[in-house]
Amino acid sequence: MAIELYATAGSVEKDLRNHVVIVVDVLRATSVMVTAVEHGVRFIIPVSEVEEAVDMARQLGNQRVLLCGERQAKPIPEFHLSNSPLEYTPEMVADRVMVMTTTNGTRAILRAKDARVLLLGSFLNASAVAHVARENGENIAIVCAGTNGKFSLDDILCSGAIISRLLELDGNQYLDDLARTALTLYDSYKDDLRAALAGSAHVERLRSLGMEDDIRFCLQEDVMDAVPCYVDGVIRDSYA
Ligand code: MLT
Repeated sequence: MAIELYATAGSVEKDLRNHVVIVVDVLRATSVMVTAVEHGVRFIIPVSEVEEAVDMARQLGNQRVLLCGERQAKPIPEFHLSNSPLEYTPEMVADRVMVMTTTNGTRAILRAKDARVLLLGSFLNASAVAHVARENGENIAIVCAGTNGKFSLDDILCSGAIISRLLELDGNQYLDDLARTALTLYDSYKDDLRAALAGSAHVERLRSLGMEDDIRFCLQEDVMDAVPCYVDGVIRDSYA
């Protein structure tokens, strides 16, 4: 098995059609989607632009649609939910349809949509996503969303957690250099993930917006079994 890691969605130049791809935007888009799927959402439609989301919700008509997402981490006026995982309770999302747009995360998912299998990863479902990825193939690419086109430390740390779970399932794997770096980072900080991220750009931005509770929530490891999977424009649980 081979594991490659890409620091941003824009840095993927190769054809990923033969790969199992795991997209990671741990703060906060993929953590939100894992939470929503864990809490029973029917499906999620990821779109790039705010206007597209509004049009899509209109087309879906009466299907109990929730408009969800953020721009530069802030809520979008008139949307039902922001990008805080704490809002995605079972009471709020069970049996609902979400149309979601975020600054980086949904765009990264759409860029990777030609992957043979496309899964969403986070700390919340690190072991579960590793397990489903392993069941689905030998060549695994983890694609970090990054933040505004730049490397984001939180995504790399989370990728290291997922790589450590993949190695527990099969220790005999080729890791590219960035995958090795992410694993070393995770192994060095796994007892104190917050220390690894202290001072990092996206964490500081979320802190400045008063989103400390979201950070704390997104850094919980292996507390969910949901593994969102993108197929034909729609995200659902892999086991659905
Ligand atoms: C994104 O998709 O850019 C993010 O998840 C940003 C955020 O933390 O809201």
